[in-house]
Amino acid sequence: MVYVTRKMHFSAAHRLFNPTFSHEKNEQIFDKCNNPLGHGHNYTLEVTVKGMPDPETGYVIDLKKLRDIIEDNVVDKVDHKHLNYDVDFLQGIIPTAENLAIRFWSILEPKITSGTLHSIKLFESDQNFVEYFGEPVSIPVYNHESALNREVMS
Ligand code: NI
Repeated sequence: MVYVTRKMHFSAAHRLFNPTFSHEKNEQIFDKCNNPLGHGHNYTLEVTVKGMPDPETGYVIDLKKLRDIIEDNVVDKVDHKHLNYDVDFLQGIIPTAENLAIRFWSILEPKITSGTLHSIKLFESDQNFVEYFGEPVSIPVYNHESALNREVMS
């Protein structure tokens, strides 16, 4: 088995908050990432595919094709966007690196037809990154829109 990886970059804004928490608790838990209008990160995404090299090409997956799959299905949808509001497949989830990696997996896994998806590694900074290997996990979905309205009105 050989593991091949494509690295991609994107920049996006997010705000981490849980609408069921008080303002104080959100501030305490999410700190800078709870900034009301969001703040930005320069993300690095590494997608690893595993498989046996094709005997005729020597490729597990053509890395140009892997790049296009990641670009079309993930990077183009999140780059220079506000992750809480602009991205269909992230609506209502708390956009931590953990939850982004889980959602990216579910989008990319069915698109990869040479080899199989092995891992999603997502760097939120040079120091902080998460890795996901596809174990089943469910993410709570909140109604961020009503939470935002509630905060604006209170
Ligand atoms: Ni943040």
